[in-house]
Amino acid sequence: MQHITILTGAGISAESGLGTFRDEDGLWTQYDLSEVATPEGFARNPALVHEFYNARRANAFDASPNAAHEALARLEKDWPGTLMLVTQNVDDLHERAGSQNVVHMHGTLAGALCASCTYRWPAPRVMDHEAPCPKCTQPATRPDIVWFDEVPYRMNEIAETVARTDLFVSIGTSGEVYPAAGFVAEARNAGADTLEINLEASRTPGLFGRVIEGPASQTVPAWVDEVLRKG
Ligand code: APR
Repeated sequence: MQHITILTGAGISAESGLGTFRDEDGLWTQYDLSEVATPEGFARNPALVHEFYNARRANAFDASPNAAHEALARLEKDWPGTLMLVTQNVDDLHERAGSQNVVHMHGTLAGALCASCTYRWPAPRVMDHEAPCPKCTQPATRPDIVWFDEVPYRMNEIAETVARTDLFVSIGTSGEVYPAAGFVAEARNAGADTLEINLEASRTPGLFGRVIEGPASQTVPAWVDEVLRKG
């Protein structure tokens, strides 16, 4: 096996204290996603959107990577083949664990974007909807995060790697949101082996060739040891 493609979701950061979205106490049970994670919600109430992401940015800043993030960084370093780590997460825990090449398909809390001129710059810890864009000076600054109904980042690169991967691994994601939820079928149709590592198997039985259930901080290091042992 040469090429491994990994997709992570909020579940890999759950044990670092960052909320998931759809678990019983998840973020979408506390906030209405249409108000804080859509372009329409931002247009209606940018102050509320910044309040939501300022809170998530502070949580991410205070959180630490867990053993699952660290194991994936070790895999990137020690795996003799090629590896692509795609994450739906907007926190930087993969990078802080040492992963060098992380594809953030939903953007990052660390990024700011001007909704008027599309200029991008490093986000301050606390963003303010009235702050002027550093380039065009319009008060149109938003988090550089991909909202519902927006196009995720680097999709061509991801489609290409999924089409040629030998193994596709999904870690800590409910598989409820497309296009990420469709990667496993694309990989399987292209002949890849597929593995789900999740607290519990996703709802669609038979979607993955193999399932490892349990908390990521335990299951991911054990799986990385297994893969590196097999080589
Ligand atoms: N270890 C492993 N998996 C876990 C853990 C854990 N400790 N805790 C929770 N999980 C699993 C849950 O069982 C669930 O399947 O993580 C998954 C989290 O699913 P969601 O909350 O739906 O998060 P995610 O799949 O990342 O959401 C995808 O939806 O709202 C959008 O853009 C947002 O990127 C997000 C996307």
